[in-house]
Amino acid sequence: MAPISFEKVEQGPPDAILGVKTRFLADDSPESVNVSVGAYRDAQGKPLVLEVVRKAEKAILEDASRNKEYLGIAGDVKFRQATQEFCFGADAKSVKEGRVATVQALSGTGALRVGAEFLATHFAGTKVYIPNPTWGNHFKIFGNAGLETAKYTYLNPATRGLDFEGMMKDLEQAPAGSVVVLHVCAHNPTGVDPTAEQWQKIVDLLTERQLLPFFDSAYQGFASGDVDKDAYAVRLFESKGQQMMVAQSYSKNMGLYGERVGALNVVCPSAGACARVMSQLELVIRPMYSNPPRHGAAIAALILTDPKLREEWKVELKGIVDRILAMRKGLREAIEATGAPGDWSFITDQIGMFTFTGLSADQVASMEKNYHIYMPSNGRISVAGLTSDKLEHVAKAIRSVL
Ligand SMILES: Cc1ncc(COP(=O)(O)O)c(C=O)c1O
Repeated sequence: MAPISFEKVEQGPPDAILGVKTRFLADDSPESVNVSVGAYRDAQGKPLVLEVVRKAEKAILEDASRNKEYLGIAGDVKFRQATQEFCFGADAKSVKEGRVATVQALSGTGALRVGAEFLATHFAGTKVYIPNPTWGNHFKIFGNAGLETAKYTYLNPATRGLDFEGMMKDLEQAPAGSVVVLHVCAHNPTGVDPTAEQWQKIVDLLTERQLLPFFDSAYQGFASGDVDKDAYAVRLFESKGQQMMVAQSYSKNMGLYGERVGALNVVCPSAGACARVMSQLELVIRPMYSNPPRHGAAIAALILTDPKLREEWKVELKGIVDRILAMRKGLREAIEATGAPGDWSFITDQIGMFTFTGLSADQVASMEKNYHIYMPSNGRISVAGLTSDKLEHVAKAIRSVL
């Protein structure tokens, strides 16, 4: 065998989103705007640490009974219980019957990865259906775990709305035993979610076709400001007795991005299956990173379980969602004021932190080159990254590149 030389390593392509951020940071124009990153910014365009997070952190630091010992492989017990209730609701039958295997994970990405590894180990050959388009990491996460991936229709580019018929048609053709990745709410990047009625049809189809839902819950509370309303799809499936997997993230709804707080839940048909699945999830985690970090999970657990903190969180979350809605309205109005042709109502119809503009890769490149506005090439704008003083600039730039 040839000796290892790192000289032979080829340069990898920059990450689609993080590469945009690097170019933005190198641009010192006063006009520059970064609407690429999926992280909330306050009205001044600054990262936000929630007040409730600061309070929880203070309480944790002052609690002398806490230590820095390793957590168990599955993570913080209090967090795991609280995150189940947050996801499925206090009355969920599966939780009450001890049928949900929950492990703390390195946020949503880590939860998806552990879930993918578990599927690849125990259900080799499983095909994973992923919406088109989707969050850029989905294909890599499932593909790197060794699973075959396929796309299902999601967006209708003409209406910038859901192509429900196309979606159902594709899923009808998926072989039994396939996995279907579903965004619980605030679909990234489109901001387009199925209606309650459509979710009913989706759950019926998946049940009939014996397809396993793998929910990605990265925005619970971030879509409507109401954490229960945003969990509608997961809770509907749970109420039908469906087996399923759910990856949760507290990056956005608690603003805990870099703390990497999340969980993977596997809803099983029996308590016995749950215990066996739990043992296997631990076998996936142990050789990957042994056990998850304590600090962020302790913050999330405290906020979820302390009634006063939970109430305060609710109010702050509502404030965040209201600012995003105001930016959506402001952007739409500013674009319409330029006289740009077309119907821009999709900006206020879409849900969550992103708006999928439909701008082409060339138009996006022109936005960057000529107007210092940075967004990924798929034309997705992070509305949460906009501020009132930039709306007119962004709107005029969009008008010019059309
Ligand atoms: C749809 C979706 N899933 C998962 C994630 C994962 O985020 P994190 O790993 O920070 O929880 C994101 C982040 O943007 C996302 O948009």
